Amino acid sequence: MPTAVIQVLDITKKFGSRTVLDAIRLDVFDGETLVILGGSGSGKSTLLRLMIGNILPEGGDIMVFGKSLRGMSDGELAEYRKTIGVLFQSGALFNSMSVADNIALPLREHTDLAEDTIDIIVKMKLELVGLREHADKMPSQLSGGMKKRAGLARAMAMDPKILFYDEPSAGLDPVTSAEIDQLIIDLNRKLGVTSVVVTHEMDSAFRIAHRMVLLDRGKFIVSGTPDEMRNSTDPLVRQFVFGLTEGPLTERRRGSGYANDLLGLDPVI
Ligand SMILES: Nc1ncnc2c1ncn2[C@@H]1O[C@H](COP(=O)(O)OP(=O)(O)OP(=O)(O)O)[C@@H](O)[C@H]1O
Ligand SMILES: [Mg+2]
Repeated sequence: MPTAVIQVLDITKKFGSRTVLDAIRLDVFDGETLVILGGSGSGKSTLLRLMIGNILPEGGDIMVFGKSLRGMSDGELAEYRKTIGVLFQSGALFNSMSVADNIALPLREHTDLAEDTIDIIVKMKLELVGLREHADKMPSQLSGGMKKRAGLARAMAMDPKILFYDEPSAGLDPVTSAEIDQLIIDLNRKLGVTSVVVTHEMDSAFRIAHRMVLLDRGKFIVSGTPDEMRNSTDPLVRQFVFGLTEGPLTERRRGSGYANDLLGLDPVI
C-alpha cells in the first residue's frame, strides 16, 4: 500500500448555515498527482484551503504526515506550512517586488540562509520553471503564463514535499496551459513532489493525474484513475468527464425552479 501523506477524514465545512463540504473522505498518496474535479461552487477550493490549514472544518479532521491538523498549535501549523507550496489561481505575486525577490521572500522569512545562498536557490528555481532570464522583471511585465511560472517557482522555494495548485491553467491559452501541465508533471517526476491540483479543465486533468476525485455540490462522488473515470458508467461522471450537454447536471439545472434559484432554496451546482 502506498503511504497516505494526507488523509481527509469525514470533513464537513459550513459557511453560515450552508454545508459546502459534506463528510468528504479521501487520501493523497506519497508522490502522486491527485486532481480534484467538480463544477463551479462544488467545494474544490474550500477543500484545498482546509488541506493547507487555512480554514478549519466543523466536522472531521485532516491528517498530514500522520498528524492531525485540528490538533496542531499555531507553531506546528506554521512548521507544516513550510513543508508545502501553494500556487493560487492568480499566481499571487507581490507587484512591488521583482520576480527574484518574490521567490526569495519565503527563504528570507523562514530561513537564516545567507543572501548569496538565497541568490543561488532563486536562480535554480527560476531555471526549473524556465524564467532565469526574467529574474529582474516586475510582475506587471510578465504574461499570464509567466506569472504562473513565477508563482510556481516561489511555491517551490522551500523545497516543499507537497504542492497545491488551484486552477493552474485558468485563463491561459491552450498551448501555455499545456506547458504549465508539463511543468507540473516534471516537478512531480523529477523531484518526487506530491501534487494536489484543483481544476475543471478535463484535458489538463487527464494529462497530469495519477488519480482523480470528483466532487459535486460538496459531496464526494467518485475517485479513480483516469482510465477508471473514462470508463465510468455513472451518468454524472460521464457528463462531467466528457462535457456532455445532456445528463444529470443539466437536468438538475432545468428542474430547479427560477423562484427557488432566486431565493437560494435550491442552489444550482
Ligand atoms: N469564505 C466564504 N464565505 C462564504 N461562502 C463561501 C466562502 N468560500 C466559499 N464559499 C462558498 O462555498 C461554496 C464552495 O466554494 P468553492 O470556492 O470551494 O468552490 P469551487 O469548487 O472552488 O468553485 P470554482 O470552480 O468556481 O472555483 C460556494 O457556494 C461558495 O460560495
Ligand atoms: Mg475554486
